[in-house]
Amino acid sequence: MSFASNLMIWYREHGRDLPWRNTQDPYVIWLSEIILQQTRVEQGLPYFHRFLDAFPIVTKFAEADEEEVLRLWQGLGYYSRARNMHKAAKMVISEFAGDFPTRYADVIRLPGVGEYTAAAIASFSVNEPKAVVDGNVYRVLSRYFGISEPINGSKGKKMFAALAQELLDVEHAATYNQAIMDFGALQCKPKKPLCGTCTFQLDCVALKEDIVDNLPVKLKG
Ligand code: ADE
Repeated sequence: MSFASNLMIWYREHGRDLPWRNTQDPYVIWLSEIILQQTRVEQGLPYFHRFLDAFPIVTKFAEADEEEVLRLWQGLGYYSRARNMHKAAKMVISEFAGDFPTRYADVIRLPGVGEYTAAAIASFSVNEPKAVVDGNVYRVLSRYFGISEPINGSKGKKMFAALAQELLDVEHAATYNQAIMDFGALQCKPKKPLCGTCTFQLDCVALKEDIVDNLPVKLKG
């Protein structure tokens, strides 16, 4: 069975039911992904609901005072994220006529939206076949394939991006991307990964070679 099929079967049984997964609205997805950039799901959840209550549509977000945005953000840290969100909301009004963009090439132009967030928005909203690459993906792929190339070097970044894109199930980009992030968060965890119950036991190179705890490799500095 392919990596993608096995992963999505796991996800059907074990995936989390998170509120931003029940929508294809790119604005709602963007809101959740920016909040989750440096924040854990449990911590981000109440903020997600607060922002959506205050600004149910992007127009309301764009019209808000910056002080109100920063007040709602209080406690999350990295205030540049909140300022960039406000700029992005205004840009959706000025450059996209208030229609939140869905295509990778469009969303990546918004302030605060990098390659990961653009792939998340494009795949979750319209199934655009763009693989997400975040810390979960580096961990899962480095272990499964036994790759010790550092994930933060330029060679490693290119290698993992290409591999992630190759593995993506292009017919099910949204599900596949949600699945690999949950798999990294719940099963192939940074510490004490659950290898004893893992669906990839027979295929995982790191498990076979007993190097799970050494991967991924990250260079200091
Ligand atoms: N962290 C960032 N984005 C996420 C998502 N869509 N689901 C779960 N965790 C996430």
